[in-house]
Amino acid sequence: MFNRAIGFAPNGTYWRLLRKVASSHLFAPRKISAHEPARDLECTSMLNDIRKEQSLHGFVVLRKHLQDASLNNIMEIVFGKSYNKVGDDVDESMELQEMVREGFELLGAFNWCDHLPWLNYFYDPFRIKERCMVLVPKVKKFVKKIINEHKLRGSVNLHDRSDFVDVLLSLDGQDNLSEEDMVAVLWRVIIFYENVFRDPERFIVSAGGSSVDIRGNDLRLAPLGAGRRVCPGMNLGMVTVSEWVAKLVHQFEWVQDMGRPVDLTEVLKLSCEMKQPLCTKVIPRK
Ligand code: HEM
Repeated sequence: MFNRAIGFAPNGTYWRLLRKVASSHLFAPRKISAHEPARDLECTSMLNDIRKEQSLHGFVVLRKHLQDASLNNIMEIVFGKSYNKVGDDVDESMELQEMVREGFELLGAFNWCDHLPWLNYFYDPFRIKERCMVLVPKVKKFVKKIINEHKLRGSVNLHDRSDFVDVLLSLDGQDNLSEEDMVAVLWRVIIFYENVFRDPERFIVSAGGSSVDIRGNDLRLAPLGAGRRVCPGMNLGMVTVSEWVAKLVHQFEWVQDMGRPVDLTEVLKLSCEMKQPLCTKVIPRK
C-alpha cells in the first residue's frame, strides 16, 4: 500500500500527479483560509478540554490534546468528517486514533530489514511485518468505508471547502486514481499531519539560538524537509501551529509543575519527540 502514497512514491509521473493534485486542492492558500472556521472550532474545543483537565487533576498533559485536535482537524480537511461534535461515533474515533498511533509508531520504528533485507526471514524483534499485516487491512476497511459514503452522496461540484476525498473522486481521464491508490494517498496525508508538533526550544533567538529560514532553504534547520520532496503541507502546518500556539499562550499562563519537572530529553521516531510528554499547570488568564 505504502509505495503508492505520496510520501513514499518514487519520483516520477505518479508522484508528480499527487503533488500537483495536493498543491492545487489541498494546500492552495484559498483552501487553507476556507478551513479557518473549522481550525478555530477545533482550537476552542482543545482549550476547553485543557481547562477541564487542569481543574480536574491540577495539571495538564499537553500531547494528547494537541494530537486529538490535529487529528480532528485533518479528518475534517481530508474526509470532511470531524469527531469533535456531540453524538459522533465514539468507537470509530477510538479505532482511528489507535490506527494512527500504531501507523505512526511503525513508520518511525527502526527496522533492521530496511538495511539488511535478508534478515527479513528470521529477525524482526519489533514484529514490524506482523503488525503491518494486521494494520493494513484495518486501514483499508476504514478508508474505503469513508470513500463509499462519499460515493453514495453522488457527485458534488467542487468548492473551496470540499474535502480531499471529493477532490480525488472528481479526477478523471489520466489523473483518475484507483480505489487502492486513493486509500494509500488519504492515509498517508493523515499520518504525516501527526508530525506537526515538535520541540522548538533550542531555536529561540532570545535563548541564544539563531534565526533560520525553516522552509528548506537553510539546512541548519529543515523541519519540513528540503528540495523536491519538501513538505507540501508546509503552509497549512505553519498556519495551524502559529494560530494554536498563539491561542494557547493568550488563554493560559504556563507554569512548571514542580512534582513533574519539564524534561527536554528527545527521542527520534518518525519525528523528534519529547521523551516525557510535557506535563504542566495552566492558569487561565483573566
Ligand atoms: C509543521 C508541520 C509539518 C512538519 C514539521 C512536516 C514535516 C515534513 C517533512 C520533514 C517532510 C519531508 C519528508 C522527506 O524528506 O521524506 C514532509 C513531507 C510531507 N508532508 Fe509534511 N510536515 C508538516 C505538515 C504537513 C501537513 C499539514 C501535511 C498534510 C496535511 C503534510 C503532508 C506531507 C506529505 C504528503 C509529505 C510527502 C511529500 C513528498 O514525498 O512528495 N505535512 N513533511
